[in-house]
Amino acid sequence: MTDETPASPPPVPDRLYGRRRGHPLRPRQQALLDVTLPRLRLSAEAAATSPAAAFPGAVKEVWLEVGFGGGEHSFAQIQANPEVGLIASEVFENGICSLLNKVVPEGGEATAPLPPNLLLWTEDARRLIRSLPEGSLSRLFLMFPDPWPKARHAKRRFVHPSILPELARAIRPGGEWRIATDDPTYQDWVVEVMGNQALFERVSLDLLRPEGWPGTRYEAKALREGRQPMYWVWRRV
Ligand SMILES: C[S@@+](CC[C@H](N)C(=O)[O-])C[C@H]1O[C@@H](n2cnc3c(N)ncnc32)[C@H](O)[C@@H]1O
Repeated sequence: MTDETPASPPPVPDRLYGRRRGHPLRPRQQALLDVTLPRLRLSAEAAATSPAAAFPGAVKEVWLEVGFGGGEHSFAQIQANPEVGLIASEVFENGICSLLNKVVPEGGEATAPLPPNLLLWTEDARRLIRSLPEGSLSRLFLMFPDPWPKARHAKRRFVHPSILPELARAIRPGGEWRIATDDPTYQDWVVEVMGNQALFERVSLDLLRPEGWPGTRYEAKALREGRQPMYWVWRRV
């Protein structure tokens, strides 16, 4: 490495630390995973070639939500933005069921019409981001990510210096990255990590959820418990 070469951050191993399984699944949830999920799943091949073409409906742009939890935000976004294709990613089974439960009525797991602008990715979102064609995302949502507040767990946080070049490759210039968190350590971490990079510029920082940001379960919990969320918009330069 020469003096002119910027030091690249150490790579973070692709390992997921959060839970993938929670409560045992009820029959309806099992049917959603067995029957509905395959109807909505984004394949690795489509992700790597043309994610926009993978949606059953025509979409003008593609957005990605990382870690949708119960799916409140993803579901509201697809309803409010029918011209946009949303890839909703989550690894926690009960969360995946929760979004699928909003999408199809009981008994319609195999047959109910599906939203034409929703696809699911149920593996690590970082793997998807790495495989997407350059500039294929117009917007990325990271709502209340797992905070991993202990310093020795910092490498588990989604916001990390090592993922920024990968995000910057996948998000088109001018594209938007929204981050919300209520965790004070993560808030400081966002300020630190994003303050030390030039791939994204800060558009806004709010203490009240801006218009066009549907709420989530974790946000509601944070507000109930008296924590102050922060909402950032970053733009890919
Ligand atoms: C604290 S929860 C927040 C859920 C939701 N966004 C909300 O605000 O209610 C974070 C979620 O991110 C998911 N998650 C963590 N790392 C992920 C990854 N690399 N890819 C996809 N999902 C991930 C977890 O399974 C968990 O459900």
